[in-house]
Amino acid sequence: MYRLVLLLILILLPSCNSNPNKEKLEDQMLMYEPSEMALLMRSMYEVNKDVRIKVINKDSILPFPKDFLNIHSAVLTDPSERNAEFDSLAKQFIYFQEKIYGLPSSTTIANFNKSINTCIACHETRCVGPIPKIKKLLIH
Ligand code: HEC
Repeated sequence: MYRLVLLLILILLPSCNSNPNKEKLEDQMLMYEPSEMALLMRSMYEVNKDVRIKVINKDSILPFPKDFLNIHSAVLTDPSERNAEFDSLAKQFIYFQEKIYGLPSSTTIANFNKSINTCIACHETRCVGPIPKIKKLLIH
C-alpha cells in the first residue's frame, strides 16, 4: 500500500530532474530512490496544498508540523546543495511557515505567500522541476 502511494505521488509530482519523455517514466520510477529530503519536500507540498485552502477559508490551522524542521538536517540527493544560501532560505521558510499556523490573522495570507516564495527562491537554483506546481500554491 505504502509503495503504491509513493508511486502515485511520483507520477503526480515532478521531481527535480523530471524527464518529459513519458516512455521512460516507468524505468525512471523503478530506478529512482527518493532521498530523505525529497520525501520531506513531498509532504511539505501536500500539507501546504491543504493549508492553502484553510488560509483562503480563514479556518484555523493545526499546530505547525514539527517534522518540517528536518529541512535543516535531512539527507539530500546531492549533499553539495546544502550551503550557506540553502540554510538561510530554509530558515526563512520555517520562519514564515510558523507564523501561519494557529488562528487566522490579517497577515496570514501574506505570510503564507512569503513562505511559498521562499520555496520558489530555493528551487530556482537547485531543483527547477517542481516550480510550476509550487507557484500554483500562491494565493492571488
Ligand atoms: C531551502 C531550500 C528549499 C526550500 C525552502 C524548499 N525546497 Fe523543495 N527541494 C529542495 C531541494 C534541494 C530538493 C531536492 C531534494 C533531493 O532530491 O534530495 C527539493 C525537492 C522538492 C520536490 C521534489 C521531490 C521529489 O519528488 O524529488 C518538491 C515537490 C518540492 N521540493 C516542493 C517544495 C515545496 C512545496 C516547498 C515549500 C512549501 C519547498 N519545496 C521548499 C529545496 C528546497
